[in-house]
Amino acid sequence: MNITIVGTGYVGLVTGTTLAEIGNSVYCVDIDEKKVEAMKNGVVPIYEPGLEEMFLRNIQAERIFFTTDLKEALEKSEVIFLALPTPPGEDGSADLSYVLKVANDIGDLMTEYKVIVNKSTVPVGTADKVRDTIAAKTDIPFDVVSNPEFLREGFAVEDCMNPSRVIIGSTSEKARNIMAKLYQPFTNIGVPIINMDERSSELTKYAANSFLAVKITFMNEIANFCEKVGADVDLVRLGMGSDDRIGHRFLFPGIGYGGSCFPKDVKALLNSGKQEGYDFQLLDATENINKTQKVILVPELEKYFGGNLQGKKIAVWGLAFKANTDDIREASSLDNIKLLLEKGAQVVAYDTIAEENVRKILGDKITYAKDMYSALEGADALLIATEWPEFKNPNFSLMAQKMINKAIFDGRNMFPLELPEQNNFFYKSIGRKLVTQ
Ligand code: UDX
Repeated sequence: MNITIVGTGYVGLVTGTTLAEIGNSVYCVDIDEKKVEAMKNGVVPIYEPGLEEMFLRNIQAERIFFTTDLKEALEKSEVIFLALPTPPGEDGSADLSYVLKVANDIGDLMTEYKVIVNKSTVPVGTADKVRDTIAAKTDIPFDVVSNPEFLREGFAVEDCMNPSRVIIGSTSEKARNIMAKLYQPFTNIGVPIINMDERSSELTKYAANSFLAVKITFMNEIANFCEKVGADVDLVRLGMGSDDRIGHRFLFPGIGYGGSCFPKDVKALLNSGKQEGYDFQLLDATENINKTQKVILVPELEKYFGGNLQGKKIAVWGLAFKANTDDIREASSLDNIKLLLEKGAQVVAYDTIAEENVRKILGDKITYAKDMYSALEGADALLIATEWPEFKNPNFSLMAQKMINKAIFDGRNMFPLELPEQNNFFYKSIGRKLVTQ
């Protein structure tokens, strides 16, 4: 099939590349001329494992094209995906101006039947708004479908190629059949398509992400309570997760959730609730708990240093909001670093993948190490903020040589307790026994 993707951000680019990979001709439209030129020359604008290879393969096979010209792309395609940004406004509500501007342009430019697919996470009722916007411009028939994306950063290609389910929100049989044809390579390998109306589909995305944020937050609270009563959250997690109604995934406690989706979607759902006169008390609590959880290790650091962090050199391992991404949106590392700086500490950070993005925000307020051990040179303590695999089994004797104090504050529970214990480190993790020197 011929497909247009409007917006080559994270979701658009990964969706476009994977749809090309399964044999479609994909026209990617973006208003950023420089970015379009770069992509034409094979430059992938984001870091995502496995993406570059697939991207280059499909450029070479002439299945993916890049343009700033929406009209040209529209003429060639029957299905138009909107993968546009919906940034949160000050009150947390999603800003639909990009989506509606493009809907308006589509209304102006289309000359025959099109299926317009909302791929971005958009509030309930957006499909209706897109439909009204286009209908105000044209009499040509069209359908608007909600088809939310559930990909995780760091696993985006894998998630797109092996989705757990495909949600098609459309009350038009014609549009549903076209979408079923497009996703046939996935249904062929057993991926279920769940058909529903547009509004239910839009809400499904917010409900799924918010539920996962609540699940993590619940576990963070259990972890905090484990510390109070001398229980070990790792064991509680295993015991709970073995009930398949609960499941093992997304039960890992730590210094809070971040990223471009959970915080934004929880806020947006809270806000939609307010607009409809519904008070999502659970989400309100989740958001507040997460704020505190993100910096829960800072008071522990203060306690360790007798209440004063002034002049202390703190090494931070990991800046990305999670491993396998360069994304630092709502990253816990940033909240911790800002607080540590406020309290007079110096920060040396290590994260080769996310460093560039952090430099844009923090510049030389902190220093950046080129490897994990040099970050520890003369450090008073280490704070682990991201679970990069390279931190899993470090050389503790080398760490001890470099550090002034053998103290680790681990926001991602990277080590079994025996490891720091055997190596005589002070070790504070989340929801587990404190290891003292
Ligand atoms: C999430 C959803 O998983 C995905 O389906 C949706 O489309 C976009 O939002 P993503 O933000 O890429 O994906 O990351 P994810 O792996 O879900 O992690 C989100 C945050 O939760 C991270 O900060 C992560 O560190 C944290 N997390 C996750 C935990 O603290 N504990 C866990 O057990 C799992």
